[in-house]
Amino acid sequence: MEKIRVHDKVFQKYLSEKQILESVDAVAEAINRDFADKNPVFLSILNGSFMFTADLLKRITRPCELSFLKLASYEGTSSTGKVKVLVGLNESLADRDVIIIEDIVDSGHTMVKLIEQVQSHKPASIKVATFLFKPDACKIDVPLDYIGMRIPNDFIVGYGLDYDGLGRNFPDIYSVVED
Ligand code: IMP
Ligand code: MG
Repeated sequence: MEKIRVHDKVFQKYLSEKQILESVDAVAEAINRDFADKNPVFLSILNGSFMFTADLLKRITRPCELSFLKLASYEGTSSTGKVKVLVGLNESLADRDVIIIEDIVDSGHTMVKLIEQVQSHKPASIKVATFLFKPDACKIDVPLDYIGMRIPNDFIVGYGLDYDGLGRNFPDIYSVVED
């Protein structure tokens, strides 16, 4: 499919499954090399990173563990407004080598908050693997250790990413067509 419709928007094919998996190969290769003598714990951020997580972990040759985290937004009682909180972190990360797995870093605010939260669990180290990065959208300093692909500041769906809940199931990535 070259074009798809999700809710009220039309999207066109931007990255094929083949291109996507080649990038995943490269990220896995770098992690396998950097963690050659370590047993990392991957922290996959739901929902968006479920496909990247599955493809990446199939390519990791080190003994490793996997945990899933969900970010929840809520209206704070103070004037700070919306705060992201972590849901579902049961395993101890203390003294572990943690690799956060994200689908996309856009403004970077989610990742900065996440790293802060993970840091409070006193891991030995934290690395970040994001499949996609929008450098033009990111105005803050975010430490990204592994980046699958850098993409323009356009809205995309597929390969785990959604538009209002839909579109996560496509194996390819689609970019919105401006109308
Ligand atoms: P950030 O805090 O602005 O970096 O945004 C991070 C989150 O926004 C990601 O984890 C995604 O869930 C969502 N997001 C950002 N860009 C896109 C996109 O192009 N398509 C779908 N979701 C996106
Ligand atoms: Mg996400």
